Amino acid sequence: MTTPPVTPGRLDGKRVIVTGGARGIGGEIASRFAVEGARVSILDRLVDSGSRHAEEIGGTFHEVDLLDPLATEAVTQAAVDALGGVDVLVNSAGILRFTPLLDLTVQDWNETFSINTRAMLTTMQVSVRAMISAGTGGKIINLASMAAKKGGAGEGAYPPSKAAVVALTRMAALEWGCHGITANSLCPGYILTEMGAATRTQADIDTWSAYSPLGRLGETSDVAAVALFLASPDSDYLTGQAINVTGGMVMH
Ligand SMILES: NC(=O)c1ccc[n+]([C@@H]2O[C@H](COP(=O)([O-])OP(=O)(O)OC[C@H]3O[C@@H](n4cnc5c(N)ncnc54)[C@H](O)[C@@H]3O)[C@@H](O)[C@H]2O)c1
Repeated sequence: MTTPPVTPGRLDGKRVIVTGGARGIGGEIASRFAVEGARVSILDRLVDSGSRHAEEIGGTFHEVDLLDPLATEAVTQAAVDALGGVDVLVNSAGILRFTPLLDLTVQDWNETFSINTRAMLTTMQVSVRAMISAGTGGKIINLASMAAKKGGAGEGAYPPSKAAVVALTRMAALEWGCHGITANSLCPGYILTEMGAATRTQADIDTWSAYSPLGRLGETSDVAAVALFLASPDSDYLTGQAINVTGGMVMH
């Protein structure tokens, strides 16, 4: 048996990129990782909140619209260069547009997949090239959703885009494991953020809370705690997994 070393910060000196880090789950992950000693670079399209949050946590901010593949590639590369490499990539940016399938347009489908899934491929390609050339391994954490596993009536292209995130992350684990890179996806349940807030009612909160054996919705800190585990050496032998953070709403 070996005793794990006691360290002041679990991510001391780690270079981390967080897409969607201006607010919500990505914002909480950025904060938590910075507290643990990481140097964090936030990529987001929200300039005001993104740059303010980066300043609060002692990190840096890069504006990008992930709908644009070329901009995504260039800005991710700029973030890697500014950090001097990258040890952990967290893809948290995402959108949810409520639409019944019969009304789902090709434009909605394409934009949702572009932001939720295709942008992840681009940020991973740029980051993994840097990780491989540094030869020091790395960690990839992609935000999927419980919708990847159970669907979601009226959620348009969101559930299929998140199922694709789970599959893409498994491919990343399979192809890049030989370089010491782990890749896992997180499948949060219902987390109280701006996502879906415009149409959220107290009745929704009560209904969804009752689906959890714990009787509550999730907080961003619930997800950030699991992300921290996935970014730390404690998870070195864990890859290709789609981990539920649902308070038991989903158990498979
Ligand atoms: N909140 C939930 O209940 C929940 C549940 C399961 C999964 N998730 C997933 O977790 C992730 C974070 O969600 P959240 O709840 O924090 O949402 P949020 O809306 O609070 O944050 C999403 C972030 O992504 C950024 N973003 C969106 N589109 C972008 C684009 N085109 N270019 C650059 N940045 C863009 C936003 O500006 C924002 O900062 C998402 O991938 C979401 O699908 C959320």
